[in-house]
Amino acid sequence: MYRTHSNGELRLQDQGKEVKLVGWVQRVRNLGGMTFIDLRDRYGITQLTINEQADAEVKDIVGQLGREFVIQATGAVVERSSKNSKISTGEIEVIISKIAILNAAEVPPFTIEDESDGGEELRAKYRYLDLRRGPLRRAMELRHRMAQEVRCYLDSVIFLEIETPFLIKSTPEGARDFVVPSRMNQGEFYALPQSPQTFKQLLMVAGYDRYFQIVRCFRDEDLRADRQPEFTQIDCEMAFVEREDVLQTFEGLITHLFKSVLNVEFKEAFPRMSYADAMKYYGSDKPDIRFDMRMVELNDVVKGKNFSVFDNAQYIGGICTEGCADYTRKQLDELTEWVKRPQIGATGLVYIRLTAEGIKSSVDKFYIAEELQKLAALFNAKQGDLILILAGAKRKTMEALGSLRIEMGNRLGLRQKNVYAPLWVYDFPLLEWDDETQRFYAMHHPFTSPKPEDMDKFYSKDKEALRQVNANAYDFVLNGVEIGGGSIRIHEAKVQQRMFEVLGLNAEETAYKFGFIIDAFKYGAPPHGGIAFGFDRFCALFGGQESIRDYIAFPKNNAGRDVMLDAPSKIDEAQMKELGIATIG
Ligand code: AMO
Repeated sequence: MYRTHSNGELRLQDQGKEVKLVGWVQRVRNLGGMTFIDLRDRYGITQLTINEQADAEVKDIVGQLGREFVIQATGAVVERSSKNSKISTGEIEVIISKIAILNAAEVPPFTIEDESDGGEELRAKYRYLDLRRGPLRRAMELRHRMAQEVRCYLDSVIFLEIETPFLIKSTPEGARDFVVPSRMNQGEFYALPQSPQTFKQLLMVAGYDRYFQIVRCFRDEDLRADRQPEFTQIDCEMAFVEREDVLQTFEGLITHLFKSVLNVEFKEAFPRMSYADAMKYYGSDKPDIRFDMRMVELNDVVKGKNFSVFDNAQYIGGICTEGCADYTRKQLDELTEWVKRPQIGATGLVYIRLTAEGIKSSVDKFYIAEELQKLAALFNAKQGDLILILAGAKRKTMEALGSLRIEMGNRLGLRQKNVYAPLWVYDFPLLEWDDETQRFYAMHHPFTSPKPEDMDKFYSKDKEALRQVNANAYDFVLNGVEIGGGSIRIHEAKVQQRMFEVLGLNAEETAYKFGFIIDAFKYGAPPHGGIAFGFDRFCALFGGQESIRDYIAFPKNNAGRDVMLDAPSKIDEAQMKELGIATIG
């Protein structure tokens, strides 16, 4: 037996026990004749003490120890004279009588402690060492707990966990596919699934009316802090349901996760907001409603006063930031630069300060105090507040104002990590027009059903009418992050065919790419709908982090590379030949 206890286990009541421990040497401290070793494993740290009475052999071995050596130590548990309240075993130490080196270690390239001195790239290269650190270990534990609780809850409401294939057919819609050459079918390729969307729908046709899977998805898209090329979804589908059934079922799952993992309770049902309202009031389809600061459209109040910036703008809108009227010129200039950054794309910033000396603005030349007062009243602004206004093209300006709202929320400390604001957003547009390719794309995916009341428009030949069709789609948003998305699906072959027609696919292409699902719909497809949650994002949010990388054991970097494996990499000529492929350039 290698060990009798873990390094997180021993307490005062274990005093006097003879124990055997194993683990990694986190630190060795030599203090005038006494040596202390912090021994670490997954469960914690225990202090080993080698006193002057120890055998010469023990002392000799201890002298050879370095950081991250793997050792086994035997000794007696005693109460510590100087206790450490920061660790669970901090009241005891183990006086060592025997010690063995199980494996030596080279000096690690960075310190393996909660605060490491290693840069991101270096830690990624030695991910197995980084994973020894407390923050990553806790992230892995949280992820594990979440997965167990998801299974436990969905099992209790009779969902079946069913696996779907990874080698599937390429049907590029949305992101790009990762493809895999087939050796046995030369010149042909599989694609890795962007999600199991069509399979879960086929399972509904097959009669498995409550399905889920914690499943890897693959998307060849540009990466960000909350995006990885392979990521995990909690993927779910239900038959014989309307939107309300889906939202209530998964509100149940989310509430269960909050309670069981974070001990957070929600007393009321999650708020809901239409996509149109989300854009209007928050300039985003994933509003962070931890704070209010709603956007107010000002077109009707500010136009026609010879201020050309406003007169020529499609949209003028503002937000009111509480208590910021004392912003200095420098701060306002800096904020103006902030909105002008290419990522935000505003052309300038207008401000109105409600100071004790009266109302002051950057547009005093064009508006008299009364007009500004009237405008301020639209925000319910009071003395001490600052109104920030952007103007320009409608969609772009609304989004820029939405970003400014988030930025001000950050600056004012209104986005606290331990405050959770869940939100359902519903009724997204079904289609998005792309000027470049001159065609419609499905905003969610092509299997999403139009709202029944928009069916006439859906069959219209008029582009404007099609633009106005709403989808029976919904997103789950948490603290301004899109965690999940889903919809009620099309379940009739002819409607599905019409959808592909709207997306610019001819009958042949539709049959070639999606024939299997249209065929399936001809054999008794039940009405159905579902949702998928980004599991990595869910975990990161529960852990209080923005980046999902630390919640994935072996993630890719921003360039989509695994720096530890050095992948992707070239394959040799023989392998290429066998697969019947060649590279160009
Ligand atoms: P969607 O494409 O909205 O829907 O994805 C669902 C959720 O998955 C997460 N997500 C990602 N997480 C990390 N890295 C990525 N690259 C990434 N892309 C998406 C997001 C998102 O909300 N089949 C549909 C679901 C359905 O209709 O049931 C789908 O995949 O949190």
